[in-house]
Amino acid sequence: MRISVIGTGYVGLVTGVCLAEVGHDVTCVDVDPVKVQTIRSGKTPIFEEGLEPLLQRHLGKRLWVTETLRDAVLESDVTFIAVGTPFDGKEIDLTYIRQAAREIGRALADKASYHLVIVKSTVIPGTTDNVVAPIVAEESGKVSGRDFGVGMNPEFLTEGVAVQDFMDPDRIVLGGADEKAIETMAAIYAPFKDAPTVRTNNKTAELIKYASNATLATMISFSNEIANLATRLGGIDAAEVMKAVHLARYFTTTLKDGQRVTAPIASFLYAGCGFGGSCLPKDVSALAAQGASAGEPMRILNSVLEINRERPERTVAILRKHFPSLRGVRVAVLGLAFKSDTDDIRQSPALPIIDLLLQDGAAVSAFDPIAIEPARKALPEGKVSFAESLEEAVRGAEAVVITTSWKEFGRLPALLSDVANPPVVIDGRRMLDKRSVRRYDGIGL
Ligand SMILES: NC(=O)c1ccc[n+]([C@@H]2O[C@H](COP(=O)([O-])OP(=O)(O)OC[C@H]3O[C@@H](n4cnc5c(N)ncnc54)[C@H](O)[C@@H]3O)[C@@H](O)[C@H]2O)c1
Repeated sequence: MRISVIGTGYVGLVTGVCLAEVGHDVTCVDVDPVKVQTIRSGKTPIFEEGLEPLLQRHLGKRLWVTETLRDAVLESDVTFIAVGTPFDGKEIDLTYIRQAAREIGRALADKASYHLVIVKSTVIPGTTDNVVAPIVAEESGKVSGRDFGVGMNPEFLTEGVAVQDFMDPDRIVLGGADEKAIETMAAIYAPFKDAPTVRTNNKTAELIKYASNATLATMISFSNEIANLATRLGGIDAAEVMKAVHLARYFTTTLKDGQRVTAPIASFLYAGCGFGGSCLPKDVSALAAQGASAGEPMRILNSVLEINRERPERTVAILRKHFPSLRGVRVAVLGLAFKSDTDDIRQSPALPIIDLLLQDGAAVSAFDPIAIEPARKALPEGKVSFAESLEEAVRGAEAVVITTSWKEFGRLPALLSDVANPPVVIDGRRMLDKRSVRRYDGIGL
């Protein structure tokens, strides 16, 4: 099928490249000329395992990239919208969605055949039917459901393993305003025949995405609340508590051969310095805002957000216990990305943690295996020194704060083993064995 994808961020580029990999002809569109130029030269503007080789394999054969949305739409049968949907502090910001819908509509005014517009961005329930479809209809002068269709196909990829997630999906949700829209989407996804597929209406598809993210955020904040109590009561290690919770048979099953397997969901039932990224914070906020304006306040989700907002302060408070003052204290912050295996620093708890440390007058040296460049732009200029390696970051440090659970940080105990005056290690992710370094403290202890 001939497909156009609007937006070449994490979702759009992965979608475009992977749909080319399964045999479709794909044109990716972005308003950002630098991104378009980078992709055209065979490079990916983001770090995503396995994406660049696939891009290079299909570029110029089944995959193209352009800044001209109109041509891409006119030369395709289906258009995915994969632009950003930020939270503006009060509610979801649909500016980019509206803009994309307007431009698609204008192009469709000159197209004779049926076209399907699929929203892949995360949007609050009602957006596809009540915002996108009317805009496309108005701009094109065409009738929704007859001349063009609208569908909603949420994306569940995890940054860092996005290609793998897309190529081997745990589920495919096909929302559509009518059967024709759903059948067209089903044809696009026909190569993924083993994936469980949910066919539904657009509004349900939209809420499936939010409910999925809200589940994960709730589990994280719940674990953090347990950790807060453990710390307050003293003499309890919240990590031990949660590990034992994981052993319940509904989290850890015994297979027929006797092997015990813990479900991956258990990894969200761990306390830490907070959830971040481009999705969980903004999506939970957007859903809570929609609930409030619909007259159904989301009481659990409001608490989930409140607990998460406190995480950076709680993390720095642990460090403060070890020094009379942080003024002039050399602190190494390990991890800038919001999670390991990505260079995405959006809403990363490391950033407010660094801000708090700077406010306290600490001398901060930061290290991340791949997210230094984006962090350099996000942090106040000249206030933080960036280390080239883990060794350089911790050399001479009086304190180390782990903010991202990069596997590489597992080398820390060995690195500190023969240091005469070892730094205190504040494990914001509880990734190290608490006996592995001489001076250890962390979330939930
Ligand atoms: N990042 C994730 O892990 C993830 C996972 C699932 C769903 N989502 C959702 O997918 C959507 C996109 O997320 P992302 O992380 O890929 O965003 P992103 O900000 O990385 O990328 C969006 C891209 O769209 C481009 N764009 C904006 N308006 C445009 C227009 N009119 N025409 C062409 N290009 C335009 C921007 O230049 C940008 O490159 C969001 O709704 C997000 O919530 C993201």
